[in-house]
Amino acid sequence: MNNSKLIVANWKMNPLISEGIKLLESIKEDIENFNLPSKIVICPPALITMQALSIFSDTSVSVGSQDCHYEEIGAFTGDISFKMFEEIGCEYAIIGHSERRAYHFEDNELINKKLKSLKNSKIIPILCVGESMDEKSSGKAYDAVMKQIDESGINFMSLSPKIIAYEPIWAIGSGKTPTSDEIMNMHNKIHQKFKSQNKSDDIKVLYGGSVNAKNVAQIFSIPGVDGALIGGASLKKTQFIEILEAS
Ligand code: PGA
Repeated sequence: MNNSKLIVANWKMNPLISEGIKLLESIKEDIENFNLPSKIVICPPALITMQALSIFSDTSVSVGSQDCHYEEIGAFTGDISFKMFEEIGCEYAIIGHSERRAYHFEDNELINKKLKSLKNSKIIPILCVGESMDEKSSGKAYDAVMKQIDESGINFMSLSPKIIAYEPIWAIGSGKTPTSDEIMNMHNKIHQKFKSQNKSDDIKVLYGGSVNAKNVAQIFSIPGVDGALIGGASLKKTQFIEILEAS
């Protein structure tokens, strides 16, 4: 894998449909004007995934899903399967985001099932991990993150590349970020984990949690940071473009 940064925009349940389509079109217009050094993935709300795929079809921007069900089809009211996202051309899927874990009670066992299904698809999973403030305050941040990685089983899967997004739960949407040393240490620990188990080192560790146009250059300069998962700032076109320019 090359050294360019991977920038993933996680739009969550924003914005409303017509605004979302306008934002996609406007981002497309802007990125046409410069040479993108980074790989960009946009994960919009599921209802506008098809529009996103069509808008970016003649660009290097990829489109991803924010989640998926691990079964191909079936009686799972309200869910969208990994196979459906694959069928329309999604190349990435965010899996195990802390908001899925908190509001939809997703645990590592379920996340493992999703990763296993995605392993047999053309979609590359982006596994989210991260500690809570309680875990951080009690000195258990590493243990919490390593447990999520171990129980998701991703380190034993022949995925290439393997993408982990380290997102401290307390940093998401809060405007707070860990110190550069804290980010570096956690990213190095994750990189080491894969190396020490003699697994492929074709791994990217993204940082996520309150990344914005002001802090992105500093975050990207930290050794071991291979990209970013960006929520709020990816919805503000000017900021998002500034982030792309800084990468
Ligand atoms: P944020 O969200 O950039 O708004 O903190 C990041 C995320 O939840 O992936």
